[in-house]
Amino acid sequence: MNELIKIKMSDAQIDSWPLFLQEAVKDHDKFCLIIEPERKLCSNCDYLVFDKGTLQYISSEFGKMSFNFEETMLYHQRQRYALTKEPLARALGIKGDNKGDNKRIIWDATCGTGKDTLLISYFGAHLTSFERHPLIYLLLQDALRRFPLDIDLRFQEAKISGNNLPAPEVIYFDPMYPSKKKSALPRKEMLIFKDIVGEDLDASEFLEWALTKATERVVVKRPSEAVPLKLKPTASYKGKSTRYDMYKIF
Ligand SMILES: C[S@@+](CC[C@H](N)C(=O)[O-])C[C@H]1O[C@@H](n2cnc3c(N)ncnc32)[C@H](O)[C@@H]1O
Repeated sequence: MNELIKIKMSDAQIDSWPLFLQEAVKDHDKFCLIIEPERKLCSNCDYLVFDKGTLQYISSEFGKMSFNFEETMLYHQRQRYALTKEPLARALGIKGDNKGDNKRIIWDATCGTGKDTLLISYFGAHLTSFERHPLIYLLLQDALRRFPLDIDLRFQEAKISGNNLPAPEVIYFDPMYPSKKKSALPRKEMLIFKDIVGEDLDASEFLEWALTKATERVVVKRPSEAVPLKLKPTASYKGKSTRYDMYKIF
């Protein structure tokens, strides 16, 4: 039985598709890309399209989504982060003195839109980022093609991939959290993202595995008011709307 997630892809500009996309189309073991003529993709379809040099996801309900790493990195450059005050840097144990070969070896097990991965990369780390959803992974790979960064991006369930890799010092984990009852709707990107990915129901199981794999600590991102994914974190670092629960490995 083919359990791959089927993804519709417009044939627009097929001659100018980047190599990674051409390879993904041929890699039937990993991706199930169904190429359709642009004119056949109706207004009630969700699909990928390569347009204006960018891979984009078209959601019939919510609109377009692509990731722009250049914009995000420029934003970080404009901030004057003090690592000793940034909750994420503190939770991960990234200090200003972690430079070059001394940078921490960190896995972002849940790359998603790449926002946290980019921030961790900006803070400074030897970073491997995992994404298991094929559509999100392809959007991430395209963003990295347009704006290359020193990030080892891997398309796989982090636990499966991680079992064959040397252990990192830190595993960062930000699973999809069940929707909250909120009056204000989340941003468009979040709506599209949630629609694609759904919920990460295996989060607790993953955390238990991460605690056996990381050599130094595991950090879990939670909404500020949520209960910890596992009780009694070693320390918690509060941001505006989020909290980073850190579990130290002793
Ligand atoms: C809440 S989002 C992460 C958001 C991310 N921190 C960001 O900055 O956009 C969770 C993402 O991680 C992926 N994911 C969840 N569990 C995973 C796992 N065990 N291995 C690889 N990817 C995973 C999901 O497919 C989803 O894209």
